[in-house]
Amino acid sequence: MAKSNIAAVILTGLLMPAVAMGAIGNIRLDDKIASMRKAGVGPVIFPHGKHEKIYKCGECHPKIFKDKHGANDSSMKYNMEGRFCGSPNCHNSMKAFPLDRCANCHTNVRAAK
Ligand code: HEC
Ligand code: HEC
Repeated sequence: MAKSNIAAVILTGLLMPAVAMGAIGNIRLDDKIASMRKAGVGPVIFPHGKHEKIYKCGECHPKIFKDKHGANDSSMKYNMEGRFCGSPNCHNSMKAFPLDRCANCHTNVRAAK
């Protein structure tokens, strides 16, 4: 893991309860920050540790997400098409909260929904 990524993990870790922290902790996903700002939402804080406790590494890596920060071109369009966070058995299924819960993934959600 690169130094800058470790810093990002530590920084984003401060925004989430310690109980959600695992081996990797929280990862900030904000490649599309400009469109997020336009839509009135902030960066996504992905609780990696929480997901590690529920799923095996191989359920996500490398098929759904490459295990390298910044190597995944995820977006809401792809999520809604059933990729990345919206993959089968994930946030497009009964197993996890649905994609319309913006504030569960995005910080600083201004919009009412
Ligand atoms: C629910 C899906 C999921 C599971 C399960 C999961 N990961 Fe990840 N992992 C991700 C996502 C999403 C990222 C962020 C990728 C990005 O930043 O584009 C990530 C990032 C990583 C990174 C890169 C960290 C960095 O800063 O570059 C490593 C290494 C990694 N995971 C290893 C693991 C290992 C080891 C396990 C099992 C103990 C695991 N992952 C389980 C989804 C998962
Ligand atoms: C399960 C988690 C999750 C939920 C729920 C979610 N998002 Fe996202 N969203 C993401 C991820 C992951 C990205 C891509 C992050 C990146 O790498 O830039 C993203 C990206 C975005 C972007 C950037 C532009 C684009 O099209 O990708 C916007 C805008 C956005 N989301 C709005 C929303 C809104 C509005 C909602 C609620 C209706 C929502 N999101 C719900 C995870 C989520």
